[in-house]
Amino acid sequence: MTDTVRDQQSSCVSIYVYEVPVRIWHWTNALAITVLAVTGYFIGSPPPSMGTGEAYDQFIFGYIRFTHFAAGYILAVAWIGRIYWAFVGNHHARELFYLPVWDRRWWQDLFTVVRWYLFLERQPKAFVGHNPLARLAMFFFFTLGVTFMIFTGFALYSEGAGQGSWQDALFGWVIPLFGQSQDVHTLHHLGMWWIIIFVIIHVYVAIREDIMSRTTIVSTMISGERTFKDGNPD
Ligand code: HEM
Ligand code: HEM
Repeated sequence: MTDTVRDQQSSCVSIYVYEVPVRIWHWTNALAITVLAVTGYFIGSPPPSMGTGEAYDQFIFGYIRFTHFAAGYILAVAWIGRIYWAFVGNHHARELFYLPVWDRRWWQDLFTVVRWYLFLERQPKAFVGHNPLARLAMFFFFTLGVTFMIFTGFALYSEGAGQGSWQDALFGWVIPLFGQSQDVHTLHHLGMWWIIIFVIIHVYVAIREDIMSRTTIVSTMISGERTFKDGNPD
C-alpha cells in the first residue's frame, strides 16, 4: 500500500515508505550492533582482568561477554523478525534482500547516483525507496555481513554451550567449515570491521543526502514518510 499526501500550502509530496516494524527494527539493530562492536572489540583485545581490589570482586570480562551474547541474541531474533517482514510488509521491506540486477533502469540509476556522489551530476535523482547504490552497499555489507556474523557468532557460542546444545546442533558445523575455532574467531573479528566500514559510510551518506538531495532521508527512518521537497517524486 502506498500513501501519497500532497501538502496544499507548499509543493511538498510525501509517500509512506518504511512501515513501523522496519523502523523499530532499524533502530534496535543499530543499537545492538553498536553494543556488539564495543564488547566484541574488548573480547578480541581484553582489558587487564584485574582492577584494584579483591579478585572475587572482579567480573568485568564476565559483564562484557554477557552483554555481547545478550546483544547477539537480540540481533539474531530481530533479524528473523525482519526477514519475516520482508514477506508480509510492503515492497520496500524486500529491498534489503535482493538486487534487481536484471533491470536496466536500476543499473542506469546506479551510475547516476555514483556520478552524483562524485560531484559529476548537478541535480540529484530522487528515489522513493533506497537509492540503488545504498541498496547495493546494504546488501553486500549488511545483509550478507550480519548473516555471517550470526552464523559465526552462534558457532563460537556453541563451543561454550557444548555438544548436544541447540547452538551446536544448528551452528556447530560452521567451525569445521572454516577450519578450526581460531579461524572462526578471526573471521568473526574481520566481519566486525566489514560492518563498521558500512556504518561509517552509511551514517555519513544518510546525513549528507538529507541535506543535499531532493528528499528527506534521516526523518524517513523515523516517521516512515519520504517527503519530496520539490513535490516531484520522479
Ligand atoms: C549500527 C548502525 C546502523 C546500521 C547497521 C544501519 C543499517 C541500516 C540498514 C540495513 C538499512 C536498510 C533498512 C531496510 O531496508 O530495512 C538502513 C536504512 C537507513 N538508515 Fe541505517 N543503520 C545504522 C545507523 C543509522 C544511523 C545512525 C542513521 C541516522 C543518521 C541511519 C539512517 C538510516 C536511514 C535514513 C535509512 C533509510 C535510507 C533510505 O531512505 O534509503 N542509520 N540502515
Ligand atoms: C554485528 C554483530 C557482531 C559483532 C560486531 C561481533 C564482534 C565480535 C568480536 C570482535 C569478537 C572477538 C573475536 C576475537 O577476536 O576472538 C567476538 C567474539 C564472539 N562473539 Fe561476536 N559479534 C557479533 C555478533 C555475535 C552474535 C550474533 C553472537 C551470538 C551469540 C556472537 C557471539 C560471540 C562469541 C561466542 C564470541 C567468542 C567469545 C570468546 O572468545 O569466547 N557475536 N564478537
